This record gives sequence, structure tokens and C-alpha cells, in this order.
Amino acid sequence: MKEKLQKLSEEAFEAIKKATDTQMLNDVRVSFLGKKGSLTGLLKGMKDLTAEERPKIGQLVNETREKIEDEMAEKKLKLERSARQKQLISEVIDVTLPSPKIRAGHPHPNTVALEEVERIFVGMGYEVVEGPEVEFDYYNFEALNIPADHPAKDEQDTFYINKDILLRTQTSSVQIHMMEGGKVPVRMIAPGRVFRSDEVDATHSPCFHQIEGLVVDEHVTMADLKGTLESFAKEMFGEDIKTKFRPHHFPFTEPSAEMDVSCFKCGGKGCRFCKQEGWIEILGCGMVHPHVLEICGIDPEKYTGFAFGVGLERIALLKYEIDDMRLLYENDERFLSQF
Ligand code: DAH
Repeated sequence: MKEKLQKLSEEAFEAIKKATDTQMLNDVRVSFLGKKGSLTGLLKGMKDLTAEERPKIGQLVNETREKIEDEMAEKKLKLERSARQKQLISEVIDVTLPSPKIRAGHPHPNTVALEEVERIFVGMGYEVVEGPEVEFDYYNFEALNIPADHPAKDEQDTFYINKDILLRTQTSSVQIHMMEGGKVPVRMIAPGRVFRSDEVDATHSPCFHQIEGLVVDEHVTMADLKGTLESFAKEMFGEDIKTKFRPHHFPFTEPSAEMDVSCFKCGGKGCRFCKQEGWIEILGCGMVHPHVLEICGIDPEKYTGFAFGVGLERIALLKYEIDDMRLLYENDERFLSQF
């Protein structure tokens, strides 16, 4: 028995010495000291010993166990220390290396153009408001004097949710929200998304943005409209540009017009940018139709107003000389990072 214990102890020490990590060391513990380990196996032989031998051998077994355990504890400490050492070396941080550049994003061209438009109109005393994108037919068409058989109301052109509810096709609907109940005076711009059932191409998208403008007060005239929009155009595109108003038709304004600006690329001589015209159309406008004022409970004999609608993408494309609208929506960083 003594010899067996001696041999087991030597084997255990040898195994401990060979262990190169804590996992291996744990295997050694299980195979020598565990429930089914060699030392436990030896203990089973105790029953064959005489009564005098038993306590002596028992003590010897305990001593052997303690010796092995001590040796293991010491080895464990050593292994842990060297593992920590290795980790410290491998995780060393060289604080003198240059750090990777932080890549900050920046505003989308649409946002930059919108903020510029807002800045200009807020400077003239306008408030910036928003209206719903999902809208009643009443606000988008009916109250704007657009008759039931108007082509814009066709399912080909408008996304309907049901008979009475749709995705607004124009921000002009916000005019009604601002005026209904006879709330005057009004001096607002309303930017936002609009939706039309259009195929995607270089100049069309089923979702784009408009900025609506509306002024209603006593003594508002066409001269106010022209002066305001001319100041806006000059601030937006440069002091040297000229503006031109062409008669047009919109159901909710009378008279109505479209405003062109002289091409800021060629100065009006004609180029690829203005399609050789020298002029670029940038918005629709007009004097608020008396019937629209009436529908909103405003007395057209006392109050008059003007309104305008600008396509935000159109402004952004012109200002940044981008010739395909799709680029604005693809969010390709190589494109966006140029602005
Ligand atoms: N809502 C018109 C459109 O989508 C644009 C417009 C024209 C708005 C004339 C106006 C306006 O306020 O007076 O084509």
C-alpha cells in the first residue's frame, strides 16, 4: 500500500508538472483526486488491511492527498500568472499610433436646400408649419376648388387609401388647414412629402417634397406676391438673376402664374442646363381664389392672399447642378459626400 501511494504521488507530481494550462491541471485533479480517481481507488483497498495498519495508512493517504493538493494550488497560481502576463503583452496599446479618423456624416442636399428656403422665409416673418401626409380628399382636392372630374383625381395619378382618404399629392392641402375656421392673418411656409403615382425616372419619383407658401391678410396684392418671390429667388440663386411670371392655371388661385428664373449657369444665353431656353421654371403661384377663402370661412371682400408651391428636389437639383433626381434617393455615400 505504501509503495502504491508513493508511486501514485510521483505520478501525480509528474502530471502536474506537465500541465500547461488550468484546464489540463483540472483534468489531473479529476484523474487523481476525483470520485473515480486513482487515490479514491486506492482507498477501496483499505478494507483488506489489519486494524493496526488502517489508521497509519489512512493518515498516509491524507498526507498524500494534501501534498498533491498543495502542489496543484501552487501550479495553478503559476499558470494563472503566466496567462495574465501573456494577455498583458498581447493587448498592449500603442498610444503613439494615429487614431482612425472619425467619419462624421452631413446633411442631405434636400435638407441643405430646405434649410436655406426656411431661413429666407423666416427672415421675412413667415412661420414654418407641417400638415398630414395621409389626407382627406377634402383638403387635397375639394376645398382647393379642384372639381371631381379633374385629371389629378384619377387613380392613375393619386394613391388612394379609400374613397375619401389618400396620400396628399401636394402641400397645398396645408393651406386649408391653416385657413379653415377663418383664421387670419396667415403667413406660412409648409414643407413636406407629397406622393404621386409616377414611374421613377430622372425627373419623377412617386414620393418627393414641396414647400407651400401662403399669405392671407387685408390688402395683399399681386405686387406683394411678385416682390416676395423675387426676393426669395435672388437670395436663393444670386443677386444677378432675373425673374419672369408666365400666366398659368391652378384651380385654387386666380390669377395664377409660373415663375421662371434666368439661368444662373449661362446668365440667360442658353445652355444644356436650361435646355437652351435661358430660363428655368421654379414654382407655381397665384392669388388665393375667392372661393377657397369662402370655403374656409374668410370674407373675400375683406381679405386677399397669395400662395405658391415650390418643388424642393427641383431647387436642390438646380442649386447643386445634379441632373438625375434618383441620385437624391439612392443614398450612395460617394454621391452624398460631395455636398
Ligand atoms: N400645388 C401645385 C402643384 O403641386 C403647386 C402650386 C401652384 C401651389 C400654385 C400653389 C400655387 O400654392 O399657388 O403643382
